[in-house]
Amino acid sequence: MNSQNFNSNHVLQGGYFHKTIRRWQSTNILVDASNFIFPLFVHENDETFEEIPSLPNIYRIGLNKLRNYLEPIVNDGLTCVLLFGVIDSDSLKDESGSYADNQNSSVLRAIPKLREWFPDLLIACDVCLCAYTFHGHCGVFSESKSLSVDSCINRENSVERIAQVALAFAKAGAHVVAPSDMMDGRIDAIRNILNQNNMLNRVSVMSYSTKFASAFYGPFRDAAKSAPAFGDRRCYQLPAGSTGLAIRASERDVQEGADILMVKPCMSYLDIVKELKQTFPHHPLAVYQVSGEYAMIWHGAKANSFDLRMILIEIIHSLRRSGADIIISYYTPMILKWIKENKFSLN
Ligand code: PBG
Repeated sequence: MNSQNFNSNHVLQGGYFHKTIRRWQSTNILVDASNFIFPLFVHENDETFEEIPSLPNIYRIGLNKLRNYLEPIVNDGLTCVLLFGVIDSDSLKDESGSYADNQNSSVLRAIPKLREWFPDLLIACDVCLCAYTFHGHCGVFSESKSLSVDSCINRENSVERIAQVALAFAKAGAHVVAPSDMMDGRIDAIRNILNQNNMLNRVSVMSYSTKFASAFYGPFRDAAKSAPAFGDRRCYQLPAGSTGLAIRASERDVQEGADILMVKPCMSYLDIVKELKQTFPHHPLAVYQVSGEYAMIWHGAKANSFDLRMILIEIIHSLRRSGADIIISYYTPMILKWIKENKFSLN
């Protein structure tokens, strides 16, 4: 890795330069609009507006459709989006995910537009390679290709590539970079590259720090067209039964200088959310209510097993009670409306 290592243990400036990030440092309010981050799938084709079959009511959206889609949600109080790029054309996918930081990519073009249209909106970008590699894995491989993911993912090259992508997003104007690959060392690499480019004090690093290998990601891989072509992600995502390793994964990222930590998925991992918040009370903690959790609740409500609003009030408050400061949820637009209408409190 780079010789001019930045001592990232004492970095704070990524944590308070924007009012939404400052709000995340204040954890004493139960549920508020600024607790929510809305994930957005930004499609390579600017005219696209298509519902995602596995994620009902959620869309892949092209740049030309984005402003009209987001305007009412911002008016309802949206403070932060998390961008994912989606490409359909297999010809744009390669070994190292080079389209991830291609200047023509949907995310790199969307960032400045979003900043122009919604000057107060905090722009976070998921940083990963899986939507851009033909193999659909989150890193790059060593020369010798076999079907064994664990023996041939090249950690150093993956981390370097991921840091380059994070830098490209930061240069385009992203306020938050959120690496979701889970490779050891990527937070340090991102910190270093941001520092070398004088961007530490205007970019926050939100690490997917405790990310489990989970069947709950099923609908997302369909949405982002990022399912692994072979193998699975168990060699770089955490075993579902782990506790110590799950906490150590976030500890690693704290030491490397992460501003914000994350547990993902959330509903089956509230013990980890609570323990992590107790272990690191001084870092904002995000939880990701992932695609499978979204779909499970959606279909349960559709089948009249329960009322959607009532079940979400209960779940979201339980996430806050467990220690989540930030909730990444596909239900964000709906919840913001309910908060605005005073229909989202426990009574
Ligand atoms: C990419 C990434 C995934 C999710 C967020 N970023 C998929 C995965 O790790 O397999 C899942 C989000 C969701 O399921 O809603 N690394």
